[in-house]
Amino acid sequence: MASESTFERTLVTSALPYANGHIHLGHIAGAYLPADIYVRYKRLKGGKVLYIGGSDEYGVPITLTALKEGITPQEVIDHYHGANEAEFKRLGISYDIYGRTSWDLHIDSTQAFFTKLNNGGYVYPQEMEIWYSPQSDRYLPDRYVKGTCPKCGYEDANGDECESCGAQYAAKDLVSPRANIPGDSSTPILRLSKHWFLDLTKFQERLKTWLDSHDEWRANVKGIAYGWVNELRARCITRDTDWGVPIPLDDPEAPSKRIYVWFDAPIGYVTNTRQWGINKGDPAAWETWWKDAGTRMVHFIGKDNVPFHAVIFPAMLMGQDDYILADYVVGNEYLNIYNRQTGKSEKGSKSRGNMISVKWALDQFPADVIRYYLCAIAPESKDSSFDWDDFMNRYNGELCDIVGNFVHRSLTMAVKNFGYAVPEPGPLDADDQAMLDAIPVQVDAIAEALEGFRFRQALERFIDLGRKANVYFDAKQPWVTRKTDAVRTATTLYVCCQIVKALCVTMTPFLPTGAKTLADVLSLALPEGGPGGGPDGWGLAKEILPAGSPLQAPQILFPKLDKDRIAELAEAHLRGEAY
Ligand code: 2FM
Ligand code: ZN
Repeated sequence: MASESTFERTLVTSALPYANGHIHLGHIAGAYLPADIYVRYKRLKGGKVLYIGGSDEYGVPITLTALKEGITPQEVIDHYHGANEAEFKRLGISYDIYGRTSWDLHIDSTQAFFTKLNNGGYVYPQEMEIWYSPQSDRYLPDRYVKGTCPKCGYEDANGDECESCGAQYAAKDLVSPRANIPGDSSTPILRLSKHWFLDLTKFQERLKTWLDSHDEWRANVKGIAYGWVNELRARCITRDTDWGVPIPLDDPEAPSKRIYVWFDAPIGYVTNTRQWGINKGDPAAWETWWKDAGTRMVHFIGKDNVPFHAVIFPAMLMGQDDYILADYVVGNEYLNIYNRQTGKSEKGSKSRGNMISVKWALDQFPADVIRYYLCAIAPESKDSSFDWDDFMNRYNGELCDIVGNFVHRSLTMAVKNFGYAVPEPGPLDADDQAMLDAIPVQVDAIAEALEGFRFRQALERFIDLGRKANVYFDAKQPWVTRKTDAVRTATTLYVCCQIVKALCVTMTPFLPTGAKTLADVLSLALPEGGPGGGPDGWGLAKEILPAGSPLQAPQILFPKLDKDRIAELAEAHLRGEAY
């Protein structure tokens, strides 16, 4: 890989969720919270960073939802796009733009990609057998048909892939097919239909070379990507549907078909970058972010999206000639849900009724509470599990008892005894010096983990700083020395104020609300940063907050969770009320 320091700016994307349902905590733990933490960290450091998100609004997920709900696809996406955008905002996911693939601009972006690939000789037409329902007089692409997997016998397999064993097969090999649309579960027939294929095999060598140059990626992502690249085949990039981007070809078959959603979706990142530039009056701005080698692109996704972000989209970008490729693909495992009744962790699913929507969660807890726990259990290298007891114990026992408590008792003593200002220290003893020396070491350790996309570890290191602070505070006993030794007490609290400030800065990426409140108490101006860059605010964690700096009365940053309330919510969750 190019060393990170060779990059001038960072383009961060989070998977575009389908606008056919409310986002849930599994989404957040996988693709959104880690990205937001990374982006906030980079902004605070003063880097030029642009964070792109938005809704994925085409494809079978949308039309199937519309059919089930008896409304139009447009109504589906308008409702969920608005809802999800608002929910991300409440959770503090700080996109620079939250766009839509239904925008007209996206037709332009997608068709340009398609045309360039077609002109480059990477796209070819071919007739293929597609399931067709005579009863509904329609083709049954993707999830519109279900059946038995020819490989493992799973009875709820999709038209051309099995969710259970991961097998991919030709539609005609599906055993006992049945239509899967409301009011139609008839047996379909195979019909020939003309489609367009992206010949991925032509990118095989380039993809291999590119993957080989990214040895630093997580093993799970590399494993999936190499698996695909070693078995590359052409992929059909059109569908028999009227919901999607029109195919830009002068062909009599083209008007009745659309571009496949998985072709247009990642181009949504480009569209949304374009729209971001247009919104700020600079329609050409997007090109620097997508075509200049000084841009470092990082994708945050769940593992099911790895083939698209680590193989197919990169191939599509290679075929454009002048686009950059991702420098890092952060693929996360899944967040499961612990079931208190069965004592087992299970996959979150709408049909099981065990999912927790972001909307419901935010109606119960402040954003920081949710962010803390989801980062603490982020499914980085293996699946993890949401468990109510663990949720309460970790938040109360770590964030409240270690960090919150230290900050509160330090600041309370400082304002009460030293006139709402950072006290003037006396001579530093060995403990004071060791504690002051530990701060930059710990701050750098947090940064190192963040740079390496190890967010759980970064958060642990943040809590560790709080642990060290409590050990120091307890050893120095300022509540005792206060009665006998004002200089000693001032020195202790001066050191404590330095730790509080370091905690404030380093919590910013994880816990933006708490950080903001605390920064106000410390009269600390933390720069916001953005696509244009800014001053280095992260470095403030290692600078001294001078004696005499004003302090406000502290507020409770992280209120404790109540056991009975958590028990009630866990019951409501079991009853399926959390989504
Ligand atoms: O898996 C999903 O929810 C897809 N909508 C993700 C798309 S990511 C990107 F390509 F837009
Ligand atoms: Zn199978």
